[in-house]
Amino acid sequence: MIVCSCNVLSDGAVRGCLGPGPGCPRTPAQVHACLGCSPQCGRCARTIRTIMRDALAAAAIEAGHDAHACGTGCATGCGLGKVQAAEEGIAA
Ligand code: FES
Repeated sequence: MIVCSCNVLSDGAVRGCLGPGPGCPRTPAQVHACLGCSPQCGRCARTIRTIMRDALAAAAIEAGHDAHACGTGCATGCGLGKVQAAEEGIAA
């Protein structure tokens, strides 16, 4: 499914650029950069954030952690906390 019509990015392409490690995109703009483009209208940002959140929650479950909406008491290294912090503009 195309999630960014301006850049013709699919949900699969977005998921494909998410991976473990410090190079993993933390914002929709970083996802665009990872895929060699830049945001245009911004309508896709919410959908890309949802894909990122779901992928990180699935990775957390796979790694044996609970998927949670952290913001408090998040363990160090928790990818969900880093995404939420990036969305909210605060350091994780
Ligand atoms: S739909 Fe993604 S930038 Fe316009």
